Amino acid sequence: MNLSIIILAAGQGTRMNSALPKVLHPLGGRPLLAHVLDTARALDGNDIHVVIGYGAEQVRAALPDSDIHWVMQEQQLGTGHAVAQAMHGIAKENTVLVMYGDIPLIGKETLEPLCHSASQGVVALLSAELDDPSGYGRILHHADGSISDIVEEKDATPKQRAIREINTGFLAAPAARLRGWLDALDNNNAQGEFYLTDVIARAVTDGTSVRGITTDNITEVMGINDRKQLAVQERCYQQRQAEACLQAGITLIDPARFDLRGRLDAGQDVVIDINAVLEGQVMLGDRVTIGPNVTIRNSTVGADVEILANCVIEGAVIGAGSRIGPFARLRPDTTLASATHIGNFVEIKKSEVGEGSKINHLSYVGDTTVGRGVNIGAGTITCNYDGANKHRTIIGDDVFIGSDTQLVAPVEVKEGATIGAGSTITRDVPAHELTLSRAPQETRSGWKRPVKKPKG
Ligand code: UD1
Ligand code: CA
Repeated sequence: MNLSIIILAAGQGTRMNSALPKVLHPLGGRPLLAHVLDTARALDGNDIHVVIGYGAEQVRAALPDSDIHWVMQEQQLGTGHAVAQAMHGIAKENTVLVMYGDIPLIGKETLEPLCHSASQGVVALLSAELDDPSGYGRILHHADGSISDIVEEKDATPKQRAIREINTGFLAAPAARLRGWLDALDNNNAQGEFYLTDVIARAVTDGTSVRGITTDNITEVMGINDRKQLAVQERCYQQRQAEACLQAGITLIDPARFDLRGRLDAGQDVVIDINAVLEGQVMLGDRVTIGPNVTIRNSTVGADVEILANCVIEGAVIGAGSRIGPFARLRPDTTLASATHIGNFVEIKKSEVGEGSKINHLSYVGDTTVGRGVNIGAGTITCNYDGANKHRTIIGDDVFIGSDTQLVAPVEVKEGATIGAGSTITRDVPAHELTLSRAPQETRSGWKRPVKKPKG
């Protein structure tokens, strides 16, 4: 089948009350339109045409994918007018499928029967039965049960409004005929718009049969017009993702408190506690455990890593068997080798930490190379920034750094060195020696604490 897909995305989405075009609002961390494009591509259509208007440049810039034919609809004169704009670029012998930039959860399997029907010369539309059909176009039938027309709510009689079978908007048709019907549309209706839905009555008049395909998957056909609907769809989407994770063998302590905004690749027997937020590309090795309230973005976590509560991890690679947190922050370009321990209130940025090294309490390590088997004491700070430039700190294997040390970069602490607590290190430290910089301790005998003056 030669399938051409048209995605309507020209509307402003007034009810979003937003400066951002509606189709760019994120669902699961990606624009609504990106989800629709995923499904369009899964249908292996020959060409994808996206009709844009409001915020057109912003929409194009957000989706720089080279396989999209962008179609400009300067004025939003209606869904029929929008589809007509895209028809110019579509071969006559193709089958056309119309999709929507603001209906993100539509599934490939739901659309395939429509495309298949249309490739056999009929017009196929996707309908649904709703308890509350308000706002939607209603499907009208002839006495013999065949579809005769779609009437928009604003044009419907009270009797028609009682109909609960609605038009989801998804429609497939042979291109040449669709083009003819679109050319003949008028805008004599309550909204003064060129309705795509009016092609149904024209098809019937032409003797082309119209096939209604009903779906009971309401989530899939729900459009997003306001932020409440966006929030509802986000939960539906996250529920789907959680279910997929559970099926893949990941334990989610509470699937309702799990958010995946991107892609997760996980090994076996991974356990994720409540309120995890995973963003971008996240890889979790076998038996990784993630504590409550952890955010992980674009990171790779090795097997048997334990991430304790309240960590924020971005752009990091964590070696197998490491233990992170609670309350640790790993920033981009952090690479931890295996069996490292990164404890509470430790921030690491743009640094490599060698195997078995420990940074357990209250430290900042930035622009640093840490060797293996290093122990960095509580409150150690790498002073990597001089106010203008960043400098590196190099710490050799088996170094022991006493608590409350400042390492003023650029500086190197050579292998096996020990630094005494409370030191400010400004010059390179030799290997295997004790180095410290500390004011000598003194005791003043007989000194008296001041006492409060009597009042009065
Ligand atoms: C449309 C259908 C209605 C159906 C409903 C399902 C028509 C006339 N009505 O109504 O039967 O029940 O969808 O959600 O088709 N758009 C453009 N350019 C335009 C007009 C709209 O790109 O000139 C885009 C909008 O951005 C939106 C989509 O098309 O994404 C649907 O348009 P909208 O005006 O929301 O149609 P509805 O009134 O919801
Ligand atoms: Ca709509």
